[in-house]
Amino acid sequence: MNILVTGGAGFIGSHVCVELLLSGYKIIVIDNLSNSKITSLHGVSKIVNINLNFDAASDAYFTFIQADICEKEPLEKIFFTHQIDAVIHFAGLKSVQESVENPAKYYSNNVDGSINLFNVMEKFNCKTIIFSSSATVYGNAIEMPINEGAQLLPTNTYGKTKKTIEDALKNLFNLDDEWHIAILRFFNPIGAHKSGFIGESPLVLPNNLMPYIVKVASREYKRLNIFGNDYDTHDGTGVRDYIHVLDLVSGHIKALKAIIKKPQVITVNLGTGVGYSVLDVVRTFEKVTKQEIIFKIAGRRSGDVAKSYSDPTFAKEILSWEAQYNLEDMCYDSWNYKLLN
Ligand code: NAD
Ligand code: WQD
Repeated sequence: MNILVTGGAGFIGSHVCVELLLSGYKIIVIDNLSNSKITSLHGVSKIVNINLNFDAASDAYFTFIQADICEKEPLEKIFFTHQIDAVIHFAGLKSVQESVENPAKYYSNNVDGSINLFNVMEKFNCKTIIFSSSATVYGNAIEMPINEGAQLLPTNTYGKTKKTIEDALKNLFNLDDEWHIAILRFFNPIGAHKSGFIGESPLVLPNNLMPYIVKVASREYKRLNIFGNDYDTHDGTGVRDYIHVLDLVSGHIKALKAIIKKPQVITVNLGTGVGYSVLDVVRTFEKVTKQEIIFKIAGRRSGDVAKSYSDPTFAKEILSWEAQYNLEDMCYDSWNYKLLN
């Protein structure tokens, strides 16, 4: 089976590539490298011991093509040259702050790029896709834990682009029920591959908690600002559903196997169902890495919610999937990647 992985050089995509290759799938990765480097795919190659091929016409097991999902011609060329059976679609921009400052960039890259991809898929009769959505589509969810039926009220442009792409996929299925679609809503992915060869190393530094903690631990940043300690949570700091990237990987493999069986569109949360506060993460990180995290309590960050954690019941029911890794694993593996790179 041939799989096209868009955005496969990125954090989550590179980890999924490892498991696809180990499971015997042939993969073609396309990425414009706007937020990643080719080194991540060299890391994948090392882990699986399969050469990375750069010849777009070759029938190799693991091929990389530098291309942009917004451009029709390179996509068509790939689908023309290769029989693509399924697409795992990670390509997209993901900075909440940047999306608010430059909404057009996000609509153009994420929404227009995805629609372009779907059109090309349709043209070449490839109707199987897994899409990386986000818990951010829920916005300020009222009830915790959040299940897939909760109202979607994204509060930032990034989240709105994810919701629009979800709607476009549902429309595709409504018009043509031969599509096999999984919309996966990731909560807060952290951690890294156990080998330390791949992990999270974005070119555009996100203001996410774990990358920041890692930079404080490595003394690149002086201290962590904790955004608010007056939330209605067990210690006043924000609560999130952190999930190990390797659990996301198994979620993707299971979703692929599930949607291949019959045409359908499924929307599934990928989270652990457990919420940890910022201070829980800081203390766990300190405990497992023996590094001190210097922090200061700062004001609330605009747009943040007090709590966000998933109801993972549907994923268990429909994919027989549940998260295996705990917060200690996530902290240890994030730090291990930093130490080795
Ligand atoms: P990432 O930035 O590491 O990976 C995304 C990849 O897509 C990058 O390698 C980037 O270069 C590439 N890309 C961006 N625009 C492209 C384009 N137009 N054409 C080709 N390639 C393009 O991000 P990630 O954390 O691996 O996230 C993967 C997907 O999961 C994204 O769609 C993201 O929105 C979604 N997601 C991420 C998180 C998170 O916190 N990491 C949470 C929920 C959902
Ligand atoms: C987690 C907690 C912060 C940084 C974002 C996106 C979401 C998804 C995941 C892609 C919050 C606190 C953070 C810091 C802090 N991405 N924090 N100091 O905001 O839950 O979600 O990433 O889809 O769409 O919105 O994650 O890691 O930024 O924050 O105190 O320096 O850590 O306030 O409580 P968030 P995060």
